[in-house]
Amino acid sequence: MDTKEIAKKIAQKEPLGKNLIDNFITSYCNGKISDDEILPIIKAIYENDISDQDLFFLTDAMKNSGHTLDLKELGQVIDKHSTGGVSDTTTIILVPICAVLGTKMLKLSGRGLGFTGGTCDKLEAFCGYKTDIDLKDAINLVKRNGGCMMTSSLEIAPADKKIYSLRNKTGLVDNVSLIASSIMSKKLASGANIIVLDVKYGNGAFMQNLKIAKKLGNKMKRIGELAGKKVKIVYGKMSQPLGYNIGPKLETMEAIKVLEGKEKGNLYKDSVRLASICVSLDKHIPFFWAKHKVIKTIKDKTALEKLKVMVKSQGGSLELFGEDYSKPTLVTKSNIGGKVKGYNTKVLGEIVCEMGTNVRTANDKIDYNLGVITTKKIGDKVKIGDDLFKIYAKDLVQAKEVEKKLLSTILIK
Ligand code: URA
Ligand code: CA
Repeated sequence: MDTKEIAKKIAQKEPLGKNLIDNFITSYCNGKISDDEILPIIKAIYENDISDQDLFFLTDAMKNSGHTLDLKELGQVIDKHSTGGVSDTTTIILVPICAVLGTKMLKLSGRGLGFTGGTCDKLEAFCGYKTDIDLKDAINLVKRNGGCMMTSSLEIAPADKKIYSLRNKTGLVDNVSLIASSIMSKKLASGANIIVLDVKYGNGAFMQNLKIAKKLGNKMKRIGELAGKKVKIVYGKMSQPLGYNIGPKLETMEAIKVLEGKEKGNLYKDSVRLASICVSLDKHIPFFWAKHKVIKTIKDKTALEKLKVMVKSQGGSLELFGEDYSKPTLVTKSNIGGKVKGYNTKVLGEIVCEMGTNVRTANDKIDYNLGVITTKKIGDKVKIGDDLFKIYAKDLVQAKEVEKKLLSTILIK
């Protein structure tokens, strides 16, 4: 296969068509063409873009490179996906809410990517929670509980894994078409009929501003529609951590607090908004009506009870307070007064990942207990001596190192 010829076609805006695209994706997956050989094609897409129709064929070919989940026996199933941010536990909050209201979800979640934490790591912070379960068991859990949050050892879109890793090595990550096909290949494989995509933008997200987020959103919507799915795109600002807590167990605790009705900040608002969209699309009811139902599941604690049942069904327990979270290793105080003007959210996420909450090497294990609690949101007043960060570190030495870095991530004026 002459991949340079294909790259030339892309540069000249000639359509590629399904057969050609299927062919080079299959050949790449089974090793008939190498990284070096496919690179000109990826680069040509990066530099020139391709038509929506060809982008759909590409996404579909990537989807078909691995397992696709067949969830027909569950009837209508919704999937929600966030493009990633910091302190985002909306999945853990909204899956039980939706389950109470009869909106079914079988949520496949991933590990941390870059500076963002992965939902899977957070779920495993529930002592004993088994995330890697077979599809048959997962389907039965959705039938019984209304929802299931898991990872999968089934190979979902392996072509995406290979292409993503090649893009990562060659500096070809930040292209809207390539990102859209990467995300949608996995979403189309996940078997849902309705897909809600929460596209985050800002300094704590992969998309830096709303304009580029909209470009990505529109492409993903188009791909989904060409695949015959109902797709709803929602945009969310991520210029500060969504919740207050950063780190697997700390974030899980905050999700529980939201379901207990004790936390009504941005994380609560975002979760309610997303859950309401999912329910309104699933049940064909207006957003305000869905929102009323969603809030009720928090007020009457039925969503909290549902989370307990779901966690227990997967071998876990909400008793994750083995550690004493009332005593951080170190509390950072402000030595100036003013108002919080901003956070460098990406760096904040990186600092917590580097503490040991997002290790990727085969032998290292994630330390679920570590992390940071922020105490202020943008616009909040700060007095001298106010707490800024509560640090939960391995020891005081690590806490002091972290403190130095943290102080450069908040702007107070
Ligand atoms: N997330 C993905 O899954 N793929 C990308 O290309 C970027 C973010
Ligand atoms: Ca995610």
